[in-house]
Amino acid sequence: MKAIVLVGGEGTRLRPLTYTTPKPLLPIANVAFLERQLSWLASHGVDEVVLSLGYLPDAFAAHFPSGRAGDVKLTYAVEPEPLGTAGGIRFAAEHAAIDDRFVVCNGDVLTELDLTAMLRFHAERGAEATIALCRVEDPSAFGVVPTLPTGEVIAFVEKPPPGHAPTNWINAGTYVLEPSILDRVPPRLNVSIERETFPRMLEHPGNLFALQSDAYWIDIGTPEKYLEAHRDVLTGSVGLPPVVAATEVAPGVWHQGSVRVDAGARIEAPALLGDGAAVGPGSTVAGSVLGAGAVVESGAHVIRSVVLDDARLASGTEVVDAVIGRGALLEAEATATDLSVIGAGAVVAAGSKLSGARVPPPGVQV
Ligand code: GTP
Repeated sequence: MKAIVLVGGEGTRLRPLTYTTPKPLLPIANVAFLERQLSWLASHGVDEVVLSLGYLPDAFAAHFPSGRAGDVKLTYAVEPEPLGTAGGIRFAAEHAAIDDRFVVCNGDVLTELDLTAMLRFHAERGAEATIALCRVEDPSAFGVVPTLPTGEVIAFVEKPPPGHAPTNWINAGTYVLEPSILDRVPPRLNVSIERETFPRMLEHPGNLFALQSDAYWIDIGTPEKYLEAHRDVLTGSVGLPPVVAATEVAPGVWHQGSVRVDAGARIEAPALLGDGAAVGPGSTVAGSVLGAGAVVESGAHVIRSVVLDDARLASGTEVVDAVIGRGALLEAEATATDLSVIGAGAVVAAGSKLSGARVPPPGVQV
């Protein structure tokens, strides 16, 4: 079975991290998000994935130099300009000569959806397209999809005002499609499948279905959700260990490879320390992930945060509810809190107090 994964977006809400790394290649608990998604697809019988992309295309080929991810063969459909979700699907399907039923996923949704059950649901109904739905408390920021008891879609309500949504079931960004849907998308135009192609299908009922699922689901696309996805993975929402071959050295505290925790350092669960990470004396790492080679010097505090590979937090720094990019440096006594996001390789000067800040990587003008 073939799948198309949409990875062409610029990930603007996750800037500055996405200036240098496309969103699907950002790590979630020290594994590139896309690797997690590809192994989920493989576990449901997908053996070939077309990556539909345009933004930072070389990063994908560099990440998967063999053109494979485990048992999944990868091909790349690089758009000359952004074609939107439907345009990207058509372009990728033509590129890979898809002529059979296929799966499409947004490249920013971490889920435990039972795709096998969804494929069965789709086949049983003879659907042309099936949309996975997940349930959220406040659907006002999403595309809401009410259905009949049979699962047939009856409407699309985009971002309903709070309290006015007809249902809490939203488009979860995973689709099963018949190749005939490609004829509904005009070629080489920027077209949205969720806002244009699917709503237009309602003009002739009977082709478009949706499957409700309460399986784990999160869109990793904002700093808040990116941090939340980390906490969920650490606490087992997508299975344990959080990373293949991680060792649980104390309840909820995981190590990869060789890790240095100095005497007098405190590691509080849930936590994941990557290979070569080091935590100095008097420091606390709690509810956080340290990437490979990340260094926390003495007397620092890292709380509910993510510190990517090779970043360095000097003595007395404080990182709370923040993301520190790959190779970034927080000089002594600097603080980064309240959803601050520090770009790859950026340097935060000693004593700086950052709250909700976005610090670009060196050389990027914003
Ligand atoms: P924001 O800029 O933060 O909204 O992120 P985004 O555009 O990367 O993601 P969004 O949630 O808006 O898009 C959903 C999925 O579609 C993501 O996996 C994107 O990578 C992908 N996507 C968005 N636009 C395009 C496009 O023009 N072409 C392709 N191939 N994929 C796209």
